[in-house]
Amino acid sequence: MLKAINFPKWIADNQHLLKPPVGNQQVWTDTDLIVTVVGGPNQRTDFHDDPFEEFFYQFRGSANLLIADRGKIERIDLNEGDIFLMPPHMRHSPQRPQPGSLCLVIERTRPAGVIDAFEWYCAHCGGLVHRSELELQSIVRDLPPLYETFYNSRPEQRRCSSCGTVHPGRDWQAWHAQRAT
Ligand SMILES: [Fe+2]
Repeated sequence: MLKAINFPKWIADNQHLLKPPVGNQQVWTDTDLIVTVVGGPNQRTDFHDDPFEEFFYQFRGSANLLIADRGKIERIDLNEGDIFLMPPHMRHSPQRPQPGSLCLVIERTRPAGVIDAFEWYCAHCGGLVHRSELELQSIVRDLPPLYETFYNSRPEQRRCSSCGTVHPGRDWQAWHAQRAT
């Protein structure tokens, strides 16, 4: 018999997973809706191209989504209590600088043949530096090798073809610093 889950109790039971180095935990497995709680701190340089909508409920602390759109990188703040429904294919990079922040994220399981992508953008000019596509079956198994391919590539392979700036790879502090200049 199915039972409801008491959400505050679930959070307390999984508190140790909702911070580095794991940072997230799925509430149910093998469901059509992928319901995940994501905690801070976590900052990154990759942008996700999800073929479906994503729902965010920032229920503790604050975070923000960097959005790459037509050569510009913009920012959507997720303050405590905010909900946000992101359209399909909106290139987003969640930034969670606040330790202890918690966000409920709901995505759809991808049917076979549907493509996700991860992209890296030039902080200086907003140009696309790298895109990697995949049929996403498991967030835990499929993503690390994809990230490592870009992060282990030579600087020359991370050079923006538009302006010549070298993307710093996984070093989000260096990438954020490039945005400010
Ligand atoms: Fe560039």
